[in-house]
Amino acid sequence: MAGGNPSTLDFSTGSRFLCSLSVVCRDGCIKAVGQADVIRSQFSGATFERIIDCSGKCVLPGLVDAHTHPVWAGDRVHEFAMKLAGASYMEIHQAGGGIHFTVEHTRNAKEEELFNTFKHRLERMRRAGSTLVECKSGYGLNLETELKMLRVIERAKQSMDIGISSTYCGAHSVPKGKTATEATDDIINNHLPKLKELKLSGEIHVNNIDVFCEKGVFDLESTRRILQAGKDIGLQINFHGDELHPMKSAELGAELGARAISHLEEVSDEGITAMARAKCAAVLLPTTAYMLRLKQPQARKMLEEGVIVALGSDFNPNAYCFSMPMVMHLACVNMKMSMNEALAAATINAAYALGKSDTHGSIETGKQGDLVIINSSRWEHLIYQFGGHEALINYVIVKGKVV
Ligand code: NIG
Ligand code: FE
Repeated sequence: MAGGNPSTLDFSTGSRFLCSLSVVCRDGCIKAVGQADVIRSQFSGATFERIIDCSGKCVLPGLVDAHTHPVWAGDRVHEFAMKLAGASYMEIHQAGGGIHFTVEHTRNAKEEELFNTFKHRLERMRRAGSTLVECKSGYGLNLETELKMLRVIERAKQSMDIGISSTYCGAHSVPKGKTATEATDDIINNHLPKLKELKLSGEIHVNNIDVFCEKGVFDLESTRRILQAGKDIGLQINFHGDELHPMKSAELGAELGARAISHLEEVSDEGITAMARAKCAAVLLPTTAYMLRLKQPQARKMLEEGVIVALGSDFNPNAYCFSMPMVMHLACVNMKMSMNEALAAATINAAYALGKSDTHGSIETGKQGDLVIINSSRWEHLIYQFGGHEALINYVIVKGKVV
């Protein structure tokens, strides 16, 4: 069955996690998972392109990063110093820095330059174990630059060995010189129809729609209008909510059938209940809460109420972190998640948040062959160790191919 197929791989492991299991990949997918001896006899006549002996190692599902802002130009390291000296995120934003700073530099950047830095960032994420990454636009705000960012994301989707779920985030901030209502109208009347046209022509296929629903950015009503208009053109709703102020974003997301809501440091009890009922995933972002010294989101309460809790790196100029292992570590220490919960949140639940849990996020026959192999017989080392994961991770595999 597997004989002669050029994309066949076998992973045997003697780890305590998988107890001498083997994984066989073929044509980019997981063809078989089972006891090593059973698999060996099942595939006895097969030739494998590559066999990786994983004795003493652990094989884990490829990590899924459910929230990133990876396409931008300009350096905001100076803002880190301002924050350390006491400036808040919103003080910097309202003074014209933060997202506005990045928007100005991204508008001025050439598409090629944006692609090259984006590619490099994706490679760093992949080296830290991410095999599927949600990637947002949102540093253009005007149609021209939003499309430039989405083209860059599309190009990586087509050309790189990493999974990408793309998100239109034109409502990441209110552009200078416009009111929130004007920006909302522009998005609904100009941006979204263009995205629909580009999808039909096959040029850019966007998966999700996002809004920064926050006091002083987009209020609940503007958020509702934008998300509904995005849903109407077939985008999954996946937005920033209840981060710095309680906005009732969670309640809105549940009502609109959102796939996921990110941040949620300030979510209400009613919002948590509504999200659980609506099967709307909570994408928690431990790097941001850490960087901005925010109140931690109530991960324990969410888990107890049955919310699908996912994790994301939130990689962006404010939270410069490529590493999902680091994110899991922070989720355990600061949000009191167990290591099992953190791993589920960074794999199958993050895949769910992107509408991809049928094909990604776990090692199951028929799913995409995305795996991470670590040099430890205890998988927990991926979370326990913080920093230096490149040395712990032996192989990252996307669609059955070592990358
Ligand atoms: O998720 N909160 C809004 N957006 C980003 C930050 C973007 C930026 O500061 O450039 C976030 O943390
Ligand atoms: Fe974000």
